[in-house]
Amino acid sequence: MVMTGVVVGAGDRGYDAYATLLLDEPELGRIVVVADPDEGRCQRFAERYSLSPADCYDGWDALFEQPAMADYAIIATGDTHHVEPTLRALAAGYHVLLEKPMALDEADCRRIVDAAAAADRSVAVCHVYRHSHLFARLHEVIESGELGDVVTIQLSENVAYWHYAHSYVRGHTRRSKVPWLLQKSCHDLDLLSWLAGAPAAQVSSFLRPTELTSRNAPEGAPQFCIEGCPHSETCPYDAVATYRDLGPALGDLAMAERPIGLGLGALALKKVRPAVVSASIPVVSRAMEWWRWPVAAVTDDHTPAGLDHALRTTRWGRCAYRVEDNDQPSSQTVSIRFANDVLANFTLQSTSHRSMRSVRVNGTRGSAWGELHALDGWLRVADHKSGKVRKQKIPTAFDGHGGGERPLFRDFLRALEAGTAPTPSASESMESHRIAFAAMESARTGHIIRLD
Ligand SMILES: NC(=O)c1ccc[n+]([C@@H]2O[C@H](COP(=O)([O-])OP(=O)(O)OC[C@H]3O[C@@H](n4cnc5c(N)ncnc54)[C@H](O)[C@@H]3O)[C@@H](O)[C@H]2O)c1
Repeated sequence: MVMTGVVVGAGDRGYDAYATLLLDEPELGRIVVVADPDEGRCQRFAERYSLSPADCYDGWDALFEQPAMADYAIIATGDTHHVEPTLRALAAGYHVLLEKPMALDEADCRRIVDAAAAADRSVAVCHVYRHSHLFARLHEVIESGELGDVVTIQLSENVAYWHYAHSYVRGHTRRSKVPWLLQKSCHDLDLLSWLAGAPAAQVSSFLRPTELTSRNAPEGAPQFCIEGCPHSETCPYDAVATYRDLGPALGDLAMAERPIGLGLGALALKKVRPAVVSASIPVVSRAMEWWRWPVAAVTDDHTPAGLDHALRTTRWGRCAYRVEDNDQPSSQTVSIRFANDVLANFTLQSTSHRSMRSVRVNGTRGSAWGELHALDGWLRVADHKSGKVRKQKIPTAFDGHGGGERPLFRDFLRALEAGTAPTPSASESMESHRIAFAAMESARTGHIIRLD
């Protein structure tokens, strides 16, 4: 059976994540409709996915007034707009692939789970890391019994300093009304409960406020970095270096060990790119244009002039210390006791030299530990009795999510076809959200929160 889908929200995720699988493997189905109030984004989507103007709607309202036009809806709107389109999609008869976080409070999570059950439709939440090469292997190792009983888990989401400034200081998620822990790390809390294999029983958490406030702004820093900041050579958050020169992103790639040669190539490009871009030779500038994340968030006009305009006039170009309305924490720790007495510690932090997750699972018979970077990763498994350490192969991944995006979408399509539950379903995902809500309450009140 060939499945068809509609996409709600043609931004970064709607345009460039799951649906791209269908361009490469059309036998899996196609996207037949897109909905987004941004006309340019609708058009861009229609061109890429071969839709006609009649297949473009100016929002979920207009789309879900119609009877269902496909089997499933991909809901890829911003964090504060997940609940209503999901409920509307379910009511119209669609299965739903929903971007995380599923909702901003427990009652809304519950509404989604209940509505899916009432409509007899599936809702999967895009916890891509369950399907990533590293964490899928780690879960297999645990399930195989090789580690014995799991005793403790340590997980860190090490957000690179520039990624933090991009998403959680200058970006959409700079306000803590959508808590960073929920928005970014419902993924990690999902991984922890999946690896622990039991629901959480007790949660406690601490957080540290952001350092990126005007109080810490370097003296003489202008409001927009592009206005000639005297600190541009030394400030790690310089917007011109981040978005025009791509220095931090290339620096991250330069640390990649796989694929062979990429690290050196990225390092060389990092060195020459600023000079090449500022030489303003049209044909070369065009070759240097980069429209993917993080630049995709800054402007849809990817010409050098378009990018410069955005850096002069939008918050993406602001001095990271002087954005003013950002209040996401700089770091947060969460301790969890699961119902089977597995103890877990999680750290979400904003000042890492590169974007990476690190994990360690300690069992009664063995230990496993590893790292997941932007493209590569590694996993080691030790047997306590023999002392042998095994290297588990982790394939290179190019999706920015450890190779999890396409397997997640494939799993969703397969589950719809087979009439089984996709992984993770909304009710499974709810567990990670409940831990996040409990952690926020603990950080606010100083209490240990019990989860029933
Ligand atoms: N699973 C992951 O690993 C992962 C990674 C990144 C982002 N996300 C999540 O994906 C979601 C989308 O992120 P993004 O970066 O693509 O955001 P985005 O802002 O680029 O895209 C959101 C789109 O929704 C559109 N929209 C707004 N109102 C709408 C309406 N009424 N009807 C239809 N469309 C509407 C906007 O115009 C915009 O184009 C966020 O919730 C984010 O947290 C998930």
